[in-house]
Amino acid sequence: RKRIGILTSGGDSSGMNAAVRSITRVSLQKGCIPYAIYEGYQGLVDGGQYIKELGWEDVRGLLSVGGTSIGTARCSDFRQREGRLKGVYNLIVNGIDALVVIGGDGSLTGADMLRGEWKGLVDELVATGRVKAEECEHLREELTIVGLVGSIDNDMALTDITIGAVTSLHRICEAADNLTSTALSHQRAFVIEVMGRHCGWLGLMAGIAVGADWVFLPERPPPLDEGKYGDDWQTEMCDIVKKYRKHGNRKTLVIVCEGAIDRQLNPIKADNVQRILTDRLGLDTRVTCLGHIQRGGAACAYDRFLATVQGAEAVEAVLRSKPGTPAIMIGNSHNQMTSVPLMEAVKLTHAVAEAIKKKDFARAMELRDPEFTA
Ligand code: F6P
Repeated sequence: RKRIGILTSGGDSSGMNAAVRSITRVSLQKGCIPYAIYEGYQGLVDGGQYIKELGWEDVRGLLSVGGTSIGTARCSDFRQREGRLKGVYNLIVNGIDALVVIGGDGSLTGADMLRGEWKGLVDELVATGRVKAEECEHLREELTIVGLVGSIDNDMALTDITIGAVTSLHRICEAADNLTSTALSHQRAFVIEVMGRHCGWLGLMAGIAVGADWVFLPERPPPLDEGKYGDDWQTEMCDIVKKYRKHGNRKTLVIVCEGAIDRQLNPIKADNVQRILTDRLGLDTRVTCLGHIQRGGAACAYDRFLATVQGAEAVEAVLRSKPGTPAIMIGNSHNQMTSVPLMEAVKLTHAVAEAIKKKDFARAMELRDPEFTA
């Protein structure tokens, strides 16, 4: 019987709970034994009370609940070899031979690292007498790793959507709609800062959904019309805002992604945009930073569904896994579930950041969306 450890790691996202519920229940249906590893990798390192077998009832009512009820952390101990050695010890004493990790690219890379070092770490524990050879005979060779991408940022390559991104998008749209009504009343401008780290998906999608005047992205620094404006995005933005105002728009909405940059890679900050709109266009402008509001709260229907089907697929992937197969990431492409090598997705994800660093913005966009043309 496979013993499957489940942990959530990195920034929480709505739908992680639905994934934990699904993995737990499908594991039980398939005759496996699910374990919760509490507080992310920290629980794996600390062991003891942080690792507990889960029953059917333990995950009741979790489908809609936001965040992650088994806890998460950004764990520095696990980045050290000693921390990972403790993690392997705790998996062995619990007999856990597969790990399903729900998190972003950093968390999934950590899982793959553990897998790569697994044999060496097990051998060390046996050689130093911390575990008995017979205790880990069946675990000696390999740990099965399956990743689900839980992140509001939707920043992982080789999947169209990550668990929590759509819920977060709903939160942003709701907030922007609220700002729209007060902006219309006062004929004001609002600059809204949204999360997403180095990925502009949340900002771009929200911009389309609420009809923003302008969106500042990390992957596509302004101006759009380089021929006309050179590096002067301020004038381009003001021209567009002015045009919409002339057409009768009583409000202005500008969305600034937290990782937004100009063509020299300098950050574009909401306060700076506010100053420009105030000084150059005389608009009464306010800034709203949505912060963690956009990460919390009940999961939307889509995230509940996505997390549930991907959780079920994660258990299938554990059961399919053969020695020597690489760690797998469950993704989604053109509305079909996919299983792709985890590290391939992580490598491609990092390639976007590399392209941005090299100011190769067309490449960054192409990596985000292969169908994109500048
Ligand atoms: O990765 C999710 C995310 O919410 C990012 O959008 C944001 O940059 C970051 O986490 C914030 O992290 P923390 O909650 O640790 O401040």
